[in-house]
Amino acid sequence: MNPLITSIAVLRDNLATARGQGNAIGFVPTMGSLHAGHGRLMERARAECETIVVSIFVNPLQFGPKEDFRSYPRNLTADLTFCEERGADFVFAPLNEEMYPDDFRTFVEVQGVSEHMCGPFRPGHFRGVATVVLKLLNIVQPDRAYFGEKDAQQMRMIEKMVSDLSLPVTVVPVPTVREADGLALSSRNRYLDEAERQAAPLLYRALSEAAARAEKGVTADEVREAGMAILQTEPRLRVEYFDVVDDRDMRPVQHVDGAIRIAAAVWLGSTRLIDNLSVKGGQ
Ligand code: PAF
Repeated sequence: MNPLITSIAVLRDNLATARGQGNAIGFVPTMGSLHAGHGRLMERARAECETIVVSIFVNPLQFGPKEDFRSYPRNLTADLTFCEERGADFVFAPLNEEMYPDDFRTFVEVQGVSEHMCGPFRPGHFRGVATVVLKLLNIVQPDRAYFGEKDAQQMRMIEKMVSDLSLPVTVVPVPTVREADGLALSSRNRYLDEAERQAAPLLYRALSEAAARAEKGVTADEVREAGMAILQTEPRLRVEYFDVVDDRDMRPVQHVDGAIRIAAAVWLGSTRLIDNLSVKGGQ
């Protein structure tokens, strides 16, 4: 069976049948250009649910005017094969008009959790993510929805939205998948040239060093310094932020005495990379 569906009504009909058979629905929202990180989300969904839906939609609302919406890698044919190989039952790949008709006027904003880290550098980004994810959750009405920890701020924002709006879905966080040298998998890694690709794992090294410092229960400034010292060894790399935040609400902390997340965004040439590590906090 061809799993591709582009219409909301057709997807809903199919899912009503699956639900009628008593199937739990697992949902993996993506923007396509699928890689092993997405594969891990699908495998987890497959292990926990009888019916799996993957959405592929490059959401214009979450890109700023100068960001890479137009050049974002798209390859629906390869993505469909990828989803089929991992047992997806339905791949929902709507056109923009299906998701956002001309008179679309409703937007979702999750305050607090979206205000630090990427928030100030990508105005409107989290509003765009929250809006599309709420819409997708309403379309699919899954029992479980799977999100990667690589986008930790996005994941926490969605958990907060689900809790605040009493949405009947369980958000399942899935650990980041990395290359052998530590680089977190991302669709944007393919923008890196050879020299940039060689420099890229420094981000993970810096986060790991900072996490090792954080385990000793030092101040957030000391944690940040440990990470920055490593990033500054690479002249190609420009740091956008290197933050130590509370792992629940993503707000900066001064002291490492509970569950925290160390998160950074860096630029290598014209490619922006983000990554993070969670740390339980000092004793
Ligand atoms: O993480 C992503 O790929 C996107 O932000 C998401 C959750 C699919 C919303 O467009």
